[in-house]
Amino acid sequence: MRLPTRVGLGTLRLADEAGATATVRAALDAGVRVFDTARAYGDGERWLGAALARHPDGARAFVMTKGGMARPDGGWRADGRAATLRRDCEASLAALGRPIDLYLVHAPDPRVPWATTVRALARIADEKLARDVGVCNVNLAQLDEALALAPIAAVQVGFSLADDLPLRAGVLARCRERGLVVVAHSPLGGPKRARRVLAAPLVVDLARAHGVAPAAVALAALLEAHPHVAVLPGARTPAAARQIARAADVRLDDGERSWTGCRGARGRLRDERARRLEGDHDSRGEHNSEENILAHAKNYDASSWRANTASARAGHAFSWTR
Ligand SMILES: NC(=O)c1ccc[n+]([C@@H]2O[C@H](COP(=O)([O-])OP(=O)(O)OC[C@H]3O[C@@H](n4cnc5c(N)ncnc54)[C@H](OP(=O)(O)O)[C@@H]3O)[C@@H](O)[C@H]2O)c1
Repeated sequence: MRLPTRVGLGTLRLADEAGATATVRAALDAGVRVFDTARAYGDGERWLGAALARHPDGARAFVMTKGGMARPDGGWRADGRAATLRRDCEASLAALGRPIDLYLVHAPDPRVPWATTVRALARIADEKLARDVGVCNVNLAQLDEALALAPIAAVQVGFSLADDLPLRAGVLARCRERGLVVVAHSPLGGPKRARRVLAAPLVVDLARAHGVAPAAVALAALLEAHPHVAVLPGARTPAAARQIARAADVRLDDGERSWTGCRGARGRLRDERARRLEGDHDSRGEHNSEENILAHAKNYDASSWRANTASARAGHAFSWTR
């Protein structure tokens, strides 16, 4: 499975139809072609389907949605029963008014055997109710069990500069090994942590240097470090949608990469070669890369960044001191 763009729009927090229509339209106009919604997002699927139907590029959009999540009293409670997943999928198709490109189990339900939920997902794939299927919010053991029972094409997990659990838990490495697309939800850290991520001096200075919003840099850092990852930021206004779309254009240079730890394809190839020589097949290279992002973001010294940027612009060697 391939996504048409690596920057998608998450629609969880779109509050009303007018706002949803304007935000989806702005995202499409800015080149975003991937959209994430869920049965549990209230009217969100209907708003998304309608907004896509009204835009000239809407038919080319890739839509993923999720089922198996209840909203008791506005909270979130997984409901992984086979009948629920099936019913949700049919309701999503009706609400979207278009085919589902990727159908995901919203989260494992601790009260239902995971195999029961995943077999229901496999039936959805067999009956072609969705083009591809996948799982969200899984640990490594749950992912491995799902891989044994269903044609999993993608995994959606929370992943950002503020949350590298899927990396530490080996989920990203397994996805890379099996050729699965990883879709990062809450890629700015989610509403509780986004302010801290977007105000980090490293992120602010990189944004200024590239003439984009901090959100675009925070997303670009993930995209550069992890070529099999796509991001789903939750922009909820047209202006925010245009900002996140710019993440696709940001190219960090070598000096910037050394700060963010995103060594890019060449660095990763070197790691691969070194690992093969050592006969070591774990995901250490990628781990190091991401740990660097987090460590550098924490230890970042804004004055040294500015001094180095100024010296690079003046034609001097680009070196980083910490
Ligand atoms: N599968 C799952 O279980 C799951 C769980 C959570 C989310 N998701 C998906 O992931 C998407 C994103 O999640 P999220 O919205 O919770 O987290 P997010 O995208 O990581 O963070 C959103 C936060 O970033 C802020 N922000 C600042 N600049 C922004 C910009 N230019 N664009 C977007 N946001 C900006 C937002 O501020 P404002 O408040 O001012 O907008 C908000 O506080 C959801 O829409 C949903 O599709 C999936």
